[in-house]
Amino acid sequence: MRIAVFAGDGIGPEVTEQAVRVLEKLELPGLELVEGDVGGAAYYKHGHPLPAETLEIARSAKAILFGAVGDFSCDHLERHLRPEQAILGLRKELGLFANLRPAQVFAGLEDLTTLRPEVASKIDLLIVRELNGDVYFGEKGLRTLEDGRRQGWDMMSYAEDEVRRIAHVGFKAAMGRGKKLCSVDKANVLETSQLWRDVVIEVAKEYPEVELTHMYVDNAAMQLVKNPGQFDVIVTGNLFGDILSDQASMCVGSIGLLASASLAEGTYGLYEPIHGSAPDIAGKGLANPMATILSAAMLLRHSFGLEAEAARIEAAVARTLADGIKGGDLGGTAGTREIGDAVVERL
Ligand code: NAD
Ligand code: IPM
Ligand code: MN
Repeated sequence: MRIAVFAGDGIGPEVTEQAVRVLEKLELPGLELVEGDVGGAAYYKHGHPLPAETLEIARSAKAILFGAVGDFSCDHLERHLRPEQAILGLRKELGLFANLRPAQVFAGLEDLTTLRPEVASKIDLLIVRELNGDVYFGEKGLRTLEDGRRQGWDMMSYAEDEVRRIAHVGFKAAMGRGKKLCSVDKANVLETSQLWRDVVIEVAKEYPEVELTHMYVDNAAMQLVKNPGQFDVIVTGNLFGDILSDQASMCVGSIGLLASASLAEGTYGLYEPIHGSAPDIAGKGLANPMATILSAAMLLRHSFGLEAEAARIEAAVARTLADGIKGGDLGGTAGTREIGDAVVERL
């Protein structure tokens, strides 16, 4: 059970430490954790946000537990040297094309979300976000127009096979849940999205039991706060999925609660909270580690088939919240370590 642990920047190391404690507490036979440098931390140490050694560690492991990357002191660097290239590089290099971002309201937190409790209590959805394509990985640049104005440009595209493989992930996920799939796009404006929609409709023929709907992304953003209970599985592109998942996190209470799995074909995966390095609270012991702890649960489930252990972690997190142990992000006073202690105790 070799797992690469890439803690990264800002609150990354703080939250990862607590997730590692949880994994170690389970005393899993053969568990081996191998640390590697990523992000700004790796840039300052090795001159690159994703050093070759780190990629090698990733390839030698069966799964990756990832904290967060991002360091404003690197924002002046050329793009290929910025911390975010570590996570983008891992996703691309390792073929991690399917990003699962579940959002479910925890018992006892209904009153703490930014939605009315009767609206929030119905949330149990899964965002399936494509992770290897879209405007994220297209050609991009900065050019000067003939009249001297600077112009930034980024190319958005999806090839049909890229849409097809993520559509299958979406339909399969729906088959294992409420059999409802909502494909989110912007087909009323973007050619990329029109192809997306056409291909999703083609793939739907293989899943006659799944009820497929389509929604424009602007409406989806609105519906997520109006009536999030209507969603079962949402399948969408890289950019829209990034934005909608941050929004979904607040619908259930905090970005410090949302875990994610980034999967390749097979069982290999990278597991990380959906949040970033949170420079505003880094080093203060204030970060909520639950999203990372829940990511470790997803790791056990998806990469190692350890369903019972994953469920144990999830139950311990739910119990901790139900017992009123909350970080500042949820209006509580518990610090990072204290939350880690509470989860470990409840395991
Ligand atoms: P962010 O997610 O880091 O923070 C947004 C807000 O949420 C901040 O106020 C932060 O304090 C709060 N927050 C985030 N995680 C929290 C937690 N666990 N507990 C309590 N509060 C939490 O997003 P940002 O501020 O837009 O970005 C900061 C840096 O992180 C940037 O460099 C960005 O590129 C990077 N980033 C990295 C990842 C990743 O590594 N996958 C994801 C998102 C952003
Ligand atoms: C995320 C982050 C990343 C993304 C950034 C850091 C590249 O926001 O994982 O949600 O945009 O995918
Ligand atoms: Mn994001």
